Amino acid sequence: MKYAKIIGTGSSVPETVLSNSDLEKMVETSDEWITSRTGIKERRIADDSTAASDIAYEAAEKALRAAGLSAQQLDVIIVGTVTPDFVFPSTACIIQSRLGAKNAYAFDLMAGCSGFLYSLHVAEGIIKSGGVKKILVIGVDLLSKVTNFEDRSTCILFGDGAGAVILSASDKPGILSSILSSDGNNWGLLYVPAGGSRTPIGEEVLKNKEQYIKMQGNDVFKVAVKSMESATVEAIAKADVSAEDIDLFVPHQANYRIVEAVRRRLDFPQEKVFMNLDKYGNTSAASVPLALDEAIHKGRVREGNIVLFAAFGTGFTWGASVVKL
Ligand code: ACO
Repeated sequence: MKYAKIIGTGSSVPETVLSNSDLEKMVETSDEWITSRTGIKERRIADDSTAASDIAYEAAEKALRAAGLSAQQLDVIIVGTVTPDFVFPSTACIIQSRLGAKNAYAFDLMAGCSGFLYSLHVAEGIIKSGGVKKILVIGVDLLSKVTNFEDRSTCILFGDGAGAVILSASDKPGILSSILSSDGNNWGLLYVPAGGSRTPIGEEVLKNKEQYIKMQGNDVFKVAVKSMESATVEAIAKADVSAEDIDLFVPHQANYRIVEAVRRRLDFPQEKVFMNLDKYGNTSAASVPLALDEAIHKGRVREGNIVLFAAFGTGFTWGASVVKL
């Protein structure tokens, strides 16, 4: 088996919609500001009783159905997330149990909004090393659970969601290239201060709201454009295709202006870029697989097409992949 190929996709989002006009009632902001600065109109928010594994499970079930597989046929489950159900065990193990995927081994991978692309790369490596045939790769995040809804600089950006793909060993071309990078030097530009071993949750943490995302949005913006641009150029070259061969660019849905800057630098036509952030905001690790699943359902891509993925996130981490469907 020469390749790792996507043979099924699925996605899930919570039902509750939080619109820009809802946010206008919560913080000093406006639909006009949010729309013009980000492109986001609304996002989905999980209720108090919903955890990452709940929506990830739904996305996984759909991906299995699309691939025509049973959960018992899975060899590995990888979940990219920064909002797991618990500190431990992994969300992947919880999903394994719910699916009844008793023949799989399961683990989480943390790479922020790049979590899905990192997971896809690791899954490809496992398949290419031999022995393993079917891997469930999930990107899921409920960033609403770590968002301060009194902080207008962050609460307008994020939403909840899950996306899943089934990756299979195949003789037919699948993942053609994949580029990953990280730079930990600026980790403090986007992080959640408390809840880990450095600063466990306590009264002081809650008083200072340190359990929530802190972000220097402007600095993140600049890194995002530069890193997504370089990763996409590299991934296209490594795949030995030209930019014209790409049927659809499915970028991390962080901010319309970020994607637009990357698109212009790559000289990509607008109609070849898939966007759904107006409906979901930035869903972190779920962003790319959620968009891919929607693009497939809308008939924007089909088997045999070549898609380009790109993402960046906290760490910083970033990457891009060229994939033949
Ligand atoms: N509504 C109204 N005004 C606002 C809001 C808001 N929601 N938020 C900030 N402002 C104000 C600021 O206070 C500032 O006012 P001032 O000029 O009086 O000081 C002004 O708007 C401009 O603020 P900037 O932060 O400079 O605005 P910018 O154009 O950079 O847009 C944004 C902010 C949308 C956050 C942008 O920087 C961005 O998208 N950055 C990338 C963020 C990102 O993608 N993060 C996720 C990474 S992925 C992961 O791993 C989770």
